[in-house]
Amino acid sequence: LKPDKPLRIAHLSDMHVEPDPTEGPRRRSDLGFTRALEAAQALTPAVDLIITGGDHIMDALERDERSSLEQWDTYLEVLNKYCRLPVYPVIGNHDIFGWMNPTIPTDHPLYGKQMPLERLGMVSPYYSFDRGGWHFIVLDNSQLGGRGYYGAVDPPQLDWLKNDLRQTGKTTPICVLTHIPILSVCAQQFFQPGAGITFWEIPDVFVMKDSRSLTDLFTGYNIRLCLAAHIHMRDRIEFQGITYITTGAIAANWWKGPFNNVPEGFGLIDFYPDGRFDYQYLPTGWQAVE
Ligand SMILES: [Fe+2]
Repeated sequence: LKPDKPLRIAHLSDMHVEPDPTEGPRRRSDLGFTRALEAAQALTPAVDLIITGGDHIMDALERDERSSLEQWDTYLEVLNKYCRLPVYPVIGNHDIFGWMNPTIPTDHPLYGKQMPLERLGMVSPYYSFDRGGWHFIVLDNSQLGGRGYYGAVDPPQLDWLKNDLRQTGKTTPICVLTHIPILSVCAQQFFQPGAGITFWEIPDVFVMKDSRSLTDLFTGYNIRLCLAAHIHMRDRIEFQGITYITTGAIAANWWKGPFNNVPEGFGLIDFYPDGRFDYQYLPTGWQAVE
């Protein structure tokens, strides 16, 4: 029996694009992002759509308005020029404007998530859609507080999620997308015991603070895959029947080469209507030179 043609998605995350002529041509994030888009769109069988996993730009949390807008301009210029596929975005912490810059007034019209919402053409920071027999849920899990931001979903979003799952029902295969991982082994590597730390400590800037409220909620639904990014490292966890994947970054070590041995790359996922999926990580081949 021939399986149905799968839905093929490229998951490009942590592009960290900025206008950057001072750092030399080999660190040009716009060229590196262009290469990633070309690599994703040159594949056979062809990719059906792209999901961008967040951190589209280098940083708007701390940078000023002008720099933040220039980064978005550069990102959108490359995207509009080189991307021919539909794009579904996830908001990342670095996409958010002004949260860690005390000179930006909180009543600025583009403050916070307003800037990425407008630039990415999103009507809501969280949403869902159906394709290829699957239901895709995009969450917005950067919240204001703690060390500037932390990973969590706010109460209205949790209510929305409960309702969205209820409407989807118990049989449709579901993929949940977040920027900050719900669960991650990579994060554990960052804060090992030692140097004043007695116990393993995984800060809520790396992994969702309220991950338990999601994993509990997922029980009883046909959630197959939770796909995250943010850490620029890769892992794959099987937990309570669900696969949790953290993917590498298009920018790797912020355009200075591989990050902890993870090269510049993106996830390629084939989603089959019966709920199976195949995931692979494809390096873009970008070579950063000091
Ligand atoms: Fe991030």
